[in-house]
Formats: sequence, structure tokens, C-alpha cells
Amino acid sequence: MTTELDGKVGLVTGGTSGIGRDAAVLFAKAGAKVVVAGRREVKGKETIDLIRAVGGEGLFVKTDVSQAAEVQVLVQKTVEKFGRLDVAFNNAGIERSWISIAEQSEEDWDRTININLKGVWRAKFSRCSSRAVAEPSSTWRPSQAGLAPLGQPRIALASTA
Ligand SMILES: NC(=O)c1ccc[n+]([C@@H]2O[C@H](COP(=O)([O-])OP(=O)(O)OC[C@H]3O[C@@H](n4cnc5c(N)ncnc54)[C@H](OP(=O)(O)O)[C@@H]3O)[C@@H](O)[C@H]2O)c1
Repeated sequence: MTTELDGKVGLVTGGTSGIGRDAAVLFAKAGAKVVVAGRREVKGKETIDLIRAVGGEGLFVKTDVSQAAEVQVLVQKTVEKFGRLDVAFNNAGIERSWISIAEQSEEDWDRTININLKGVWRAKFSRCSSRAVAEPSSTWRPSQAGLAPLGQPRIALASTA
């Protein structure tokens, strides 16, 4: 992990388990304040405990990224608590059963798109509408493919979904 996260405020969606939880702890170890989002409150609080155990500071905000209003509240609470948002790791996602597209129901398809794809898009627009980013920040670059530069002020968006 680079020193680029030191002093930054990072948001990790899907931080209640798996890759997101590990990333949230890594963010904290790198010196970032971490906002953890997900639907499972108990798991989210466990992640915050792990962040505190490595000396970090974290906030859990119960959020369903398929709900625009909840993503807006997430960004608002981030700014209320930490004053800014520098980096968003849009990791929240679901994996449906490994069957061909032809066999998937439209409901399943819509649900996957709504969380894995539009969940990232919602975070982007919540950031813009809430003016969450106080000033340009450096970007964390986990992979070139997962980043979307968003103009000024800048924010790094990364997605695993
Ligand atoms: N593991 C892999 O090899 C792999 C490979 C490529 C891509 N990915 C992608 O990487 C991401 C994380 O994978 P993982 O293995 O760590 O999976 P995971 O343990 O199942 O974690 C998924 C996370 O997404 C959250 N999430 C799901 N739907 C959500 C929603 N509507 N709103 C908010 N949070 C939501 C879950 O939290 P809640 O249930 O608490 O909401 C959970 O924290 C996923 O997007 C996955 O598709 C994983």
C-alpha cells in the first residue's frame, strides 16, 4: 500500500466482508480515515472494530447502493464526519449463479446491473451533488481499468464489480 492514502478520507462500499473489508483495513493501515458501507450492520461494525484494532478511525454507514437516497446519505455522513471524501472504492457487488445470460431471469439481470453497475454510477453523482470533495486530491490506483477520473475536484473511483 502506498503512502498516498495517508491523511485521506476513503470510502469502501461492500466493506462488510471479503475484499472490501480487507481493503478498508488496508486503507486504515495506510493512514486513511475509512467510511465503510454495506447493508449488514453487525458485519459493518466488525469492520470498524478491525480498523480501530490497527489504530485507524472509521465510520460505518448502513447503505444499500441500489438505493440512490441511501448513497446520498452515505456521502453526506462522510462529509459530516470527516469533512471531505478523497477516494471511493466502489467494491459492493453481487455474484449471481454462473449460468448463461440466456438462462437468467430479467429480474436477476436487473438486480445485478442495479448493484454492480449503477451502484458505482450513483456514488459518482452523489459526490457531485453533495460537493463532498473539498479540494483536489491525489488518486490511489489499484488498477488502471478500475479507475474513472471525474474532472475537478478530482476523486479516484475504483470498482471490483
Ligand atoms: N472474490 C473474487 O474473486 C472476485 C473477483 C472479481 C470481482 N469480484 C467482485 O469484488 C467484489 C467483492 O467481492 P468479494 O469476494 O469480497 O464478495 P463478498 O464477500 O460477497 O462481498 C460483497 C460485498 O458487497 C456488499 N454488497 C452487496 N450488495 C450490496 C448492496 N446492494 N449495497 C451495499 N453493499 C452491497 C456486501 O455487503 P452487504 O451484504 O453487507 O450489503 C459485501 O460486503 C464484488 O463486487 C465481486 O463481484 C470478486
